[in-house]
Amino acid sequence: MTGTGLLAAPEPALRPALHPLSAEYLDDFYRDGGGACAIMSVAHFPDEVLAFLQLECLAAFQAVVAERCDAVVELGCFDGRALEVARAAGIPYCGVDINGTAVAALRERIRDEGLDAQATTLVGDAQESVRWSAQVPGRRPLIVLPFNLLGNLPDPRRALTGLRALGGTILISVFNEQPRTTAVRRAYYARCVTGLAEPAQGRYGGAVFRGARGFCSESFSAPALHRLLRECGLVIRSQTANRLGRSLTVRGA
Ligand SMILES: C[S@@+](CC[C@H](N)C(=O)[O-])C[C@H]1O[C@@H](n2cnc3c(N)ncnc32)[C@H](O)[C@@H]1O
Repeated sequence: MTGTGLLAAPEPALRPALHPLSAEYLDDFYRDGGGACAIMSVAHFPDEVLAFLQLECLAAFQAVVAERCDAVVELGCFDGRALEVARAAGIPYCGVDINGTAVAALRERIRDEGLDAQATTLVGDAQESVRWSAQVPGRRPLIVLPFNLLGNLPDPRRALTGLRALGGTILISVFNEQPRTTAVRRAYYARCVTGLAEPAQGRYGGAVFRGARGFCSESFSAPALHRLLRECGLVIRSQTANRLGRSLTVRGA
């Protein structure tokens, strides 16, 4: 994740934290600035995070096998961690990210690794799947929402409802609401987010962190996440968890 050679943009002046539903929310931290590069840099990950990412990767591979998926579509892909799942399964991959610099770096990696026939990328918003769904491969894709991406989105319900319409299997990987996890997240975000505020109660039973340039990330309790999935018409096919978070495989009811 640091291997992309992406450099963090200079810090703009600190602005008041934006509400997660505000329009500038995504534009600020992820779309254009260096926020994506900072938060996805391995150098900023507390040690505990690596086990969580391993859990997520193995859950994704198991889902591909169990649900007979014919492609992997990774949202918030940054440098394409789930490309390894597609490589291991021998199926097409598409990485989608709102950050054009990250997508350009992933495209270069795909070229360097001779995977042009298997892997594609696009710049797109996970919440606007109707805009890019025609470009993704597979009739039964595994759509991966990695590394607490769901907790970054202003409107998780809208995002999940849109993704459900794609007809595949969705893998959702989120941080839990446990105090220990909140402490690990605080240490993580303190390394890459300026103006980090004390965590507040989130919308889904977890803790929400806010910072400069509209940074906003919330975690999920299991009951609140299950309720959200039900409300979106999604049923749980499998789930696995470690002390930091959980990965769930879901499909349309
Ligand atoms: C996977 S998330 C990681 C979140 C972080 N670990 C946390 O705890 O909140 C970061 C990646 O998602 C991308 N991203 C953020 N919002 C997005 C959106 N709405 N659509 C697509 N990609 C998005 C960013 O550009 C970045 O590459």
